[in-house]
Amino acid sequence: MNSARIREIELAYDDAGSGPALVLLHGYPFNRSMWRDQIDFLSTHGNRVVAPDMRGLGETKATSEISTMDDMARDVAALMDKLEIDRAVVCGLSMGGYVAFEFVHLFPSRVRALILAGTRAPADNEQEKQVREQQAQRILTEGMNFVADATLRKLLAPRTLAEKPEVIASVREMILRSDPQGAAAAQRGMAARRDHSDNLRRINVPTLVIVGREDPIRPVADSEFMHSKIRDSRLEVIEDAAHMTNMEQPEIFNRGLHEFLT
Ligand code: MLT
Repeated sequence: MNSARIREIELAYDDAGSGPALVLLHGYPFNRSMWRDQIDFLSTHGNRVVAPDMRGLGETKATSEISTMDDMARDVAALMDKLEIDRAVVCGLSMGGYVAFEFVHLFPSRVRALILAGTRAPADNEQEKQVREQQAQRILTEGMNFVADATLRKLLAPRTLAEKPEVIASVREMILRSDPQGAAAAQRGMAARRDHSDNLRRINVPTLVIVGREDPIRPVADSEFMHSKIRDSRLEVIEDAAHMTNMEQPEIFNRGLHEFLT
């Protein structure tokens, strides 16, 4: 494991391959191990691939009761400074997408292109914020078990659930291994995130929008909205996948990224 001391945290990350940099931002409550197939493939096909564990998740510890998307985006910029990467293609899945929106908003000149997977631009409404706060409190008292039980059927498509026990096991393990403090802090950070809907038309880098056909968490309509507003964007809908497109259909996901990157 690599780690860097930045912004008062010890940030764990992978850094593999050489070539134009691609930064992979994981979702909630996961960690950089969700990108294993992408790191292996893209780092051997002409890219330098950097994948951090966002604060509070994976091997990066949380420092406060809330980890905002702004914090996470600034962590990514600081890591890029440390690794002497000026500009990168930034790819985020779900919460990673919220961080990517924040990153391109704060540091537009550092983004060569964007990949937005299973995410959405609007902020939460009041009810969604309340649900996140309830989840955060429940995680702090009960731990992560109920999260795995409640979400696996939404995260993965029926075909994945029926045919890919190894993917189910990896997703379950990531959830169960998440630190409750860090997961609760990320929930609160997502609840506080800003609405990027009106910023979409300001994104002026090539953008690939990816979504699983059967994603109930961030449905296809959310991606169609981003695609309709981001000028230079392309939409790829992946069949037989729900929320974890990159793990459920890694070959299709990798091919899409590779074509886009080249
Ligand atoms: C994720 O996968 O990152 C989460 O589903 C995002 C969210 O809760 O909005």
